[in-house]
Amino acid sequence: MIVARARANANVALAKYWGKRDEALNLPFTGSISVTLDGLETHVSLALVPRSSSDRVRMNGAPALAAEAQRVSRFLDLVRAQAHAATRVEVDLESNFPVAAGLASSASTFAALALASNRAFGLDLSPEQLSVLARRGSGSAARSIHGGFVEWLAGEAADGLDSRAVQVAPAHHWSIGIVVAVTDEGRKKVGSREGMAIAARESPFFRAWLETHAADAAAIRSGIWARDLLLVGEAAEHNCLKMHAASLAARPSLLYWTPATVAVIHRVRELRADGLEAYFTIDAGPQVKVLCRAEDRAQVAEQIARVPGVRRVLLSAPGPGAEVLATR
Ligand code: DP6
Repeated sequence: MIVARARANANVALAKYWGKRDEALNLPFTGSISVTLDGLETHVSLALVPRSSSDRVRMNGAPALAAEAQRVSRFLDLVRAQAHAATRVEVDLESNFPVAAGLASSASTFAALALASNRAFGLDLSPEQLSVLARRGSGSAARSIHGGFVEWLAGEAADGLDSRAVQVAPAHHWSIGIVVAVTDEGRKKVGSREGMAIAARESPFFRAWLETHAADAAAIRSGIWARDLLLVGEAAEHNCLKMHAASLAARPSLLYWTPATVAVIHRVRELRADGLEAYFTIDAGPQVKVLCRAEDRAQVAEQIARVPGVRRVLLSAPGPGAEVLATR
């Protein structure tokens, strides 16, 4: 029995992916830029089970929900098709952070799965091809293949083979601090997949979101290269608020924030007014990620932890790309 183990980290988008030009292939309307998060990891262990007639998927020690198991199985079908194989597998997924609550667990999950299944089925894919494969599981997973600061290029090809992520700068290029404020550990009601489809179809502001996206991405990209926190932070906040504004304006309206989410936004603005450089960004959930200088991270974390409704804070920084841990 071949067993492959792999690890991938979550990422947080600074210029966000929100809307697909092709829903089946997870092809985005726009590019996106993220930071891979140190310490927020998903580990995958994948075993080939030749005599089994179905895949078995476990998450954090318990059988995965049917919808989640099916999503993993469909992803593995893509791998099996590429490998001309039919072998079923046993998959164990372990994440050390709240799953499905806007902390990008699908990104780390499918990036790790891409590496583990590539190894177990002997596909021998390049990092570029692994990013394309991970994208089929979840768009944001294309970025978690790489460490540090990462850009997912939207691509133009109908088959999506040019829609993959590349590294903008390695983690050691710029040691910023990232504080994750966890305000709600529960499962979100409207996942990213459904949320971005509703926003694209039903928001009168969606066109404006698309039209103004490239300018934010350009500012963030050059800000990363120049290690300019002001430039990156302001552009990331603006991009985040536009994504949520477009979603709020959809019918039905999408509101991912809790009162604590909003309280953290206010606190970040106060910190900034008091001279502590900090900027927020929020994905499709209630958690807030705060960017700051590395040397201010402990102080920012202490301040954010005191905001009413914040359950805990996680300290992070730019982290490593996905890797295979072992095969036997
Ligand atoms: C708000 O990658 O989870 O976090 O491709 O449908 O799996 P699917 O969506 P997903 O969406 C992430 C959306 C986001 C922004 C981002 O990560 O860029």
